[in-house]
Amino acid sequence: MRLLVTGGAGFIGANFVHQTVRERPDVAVTVLDALTYAGDRSSLVGVEDAIAFVEGSVADAGLVDRLVGETDVVVHFAAESHNDNSLADPWPFVQTNLVGTFTLLEAVRRHGVRFHHISTDEVYGDLELDDPAKFTPDTPYDPSSPYSSTKAGSDLLVRAWVRSFGVRATISNCSNNYGPYQHVEKFIPRQVTNLIDGVRPRLYGAGLNVRDWIHVADHNAAVWAIIDRGRVGETYLIGADGETSNLDVVRTLSEVFGRDADDFDQVADRPGHDLRYAIDASKLRDELGWTPRFTDFRAGLEATVEWYRRNEAWWRPAKAAVEAKYAKTGQ
Ligand code: NAD
Ligand code: DAU
Repeated sequence: MRLLVTGGAGFIGANFVHQTVRERPDVAVTVLDALTYAGDRSSLVGVEDAIAFVEGSVADAGLVDRLVGETDVVVHFAAESHNDNSLADPWPFVQTNLVGTFTLLEAVRRHGVRFHHISTDEVYGDLELDDPAKFTPDTPYDPSSPYSSTKAGSDLLVRAWVRSFGVRATISNCSNNYGPYQHVEKFIPRQVTNLIDGVRPRLYGAGLNVRDWIHVADHNAAVWAIIDRGRVGETYLIGADGETSNLDVVRTLSEVFGRDADDFDQVADRPGHDLRYAIDASKLRDELGWTPRFTDFRAGLEATVEWYRRNEAWWRPAKAAVEAKYAKTGQ
């Protein structure tokens, strides 16, 4: 199989490429990545010789047409992915998440190539803390931020291209990932690298917001299950029953570092901050037989902390600029 991986130098995409090279030697991987601030070729150290790497944008129609014409399957991770950035400057989110996905869809339509679209649970909006409901594939779309609304729009483009043009596509909407190679702007790596530096973790507001954490390796195993066995036109929700409040994440991380669990700073809240996400992944489990392997969240966090301790050269160059950006919004 020839596989084109967009966004393969980002957090989830790079983990997907490592996992694919390790477990599927029959797959010829080409990565297309624009190497924005969030993309880093050093995330692919160890697999560079096993893959082809192309630097470029998913919104570049000529380049995308050529690469899609040379592949059997596209898995589309590339996106602007950070909510806080989308509040400061939404335009790159429209360009990459909407125009980029449109550009890929037109190319897979022309070449008859199978397409898997990576999306987020944030397209469904948020839930009350005491709501027994979880998101299912039938939950109405109700995105809150410029990031989640552009992801919602990209999902709807995929659905329309399936129905109107017969494109062979699937969609997955996953909850919050954690693990190696995640950018230091994101919640868990930001707190881990603060703690390594002896700086107190920073909680938005009271920290009561709940995220449904899943290890990135479990997300990517689900993506492969969908590429292998998913039904064209279907949407699969990916989640591992990992609901945890931000406060509890910070407390656990502080304990892992041997610090007082309540020694953190409360900082300005995110405007429009989604309260709770929760995924019902029973369709994925029942239909495709997927189950998560990393079910002990504390053990997963400990392994992630260890990864950031050992790989300071990977994250250190981005840290100061990220903190300077957060300082401007009092976060
Ligand atoms: P990331 O920000 O770490 O990586 C994004 C990658 O896309 C980077 O390598 C970047 O250089 C690349 N990119 C950005 N614009 C591009 C363009 N125009 N052309 C080509 N490449 C471009 O993001 P991530 O956290 O790895 O997320 C990957 C995908 O998974 C996204 O689609 C995101 O919406 C989705 N997702 C993320 C999570 C999560 O918790 N991180 C959860 C569910 C879904
Ligand atoms: O749910 C899936 C989504 O998860 C993905 O689609 C996004 O790409 C990904 O970035 C993530 O979005 P969140 O906004 O949930 O993730 P983030 O890491 O930015 O924040 C997680 C929670 O932690 C959120 O409630 C905000 C809070 N937070 C974040 C930061 C950076 C803090 O309390 N302090 C912080 O310093």
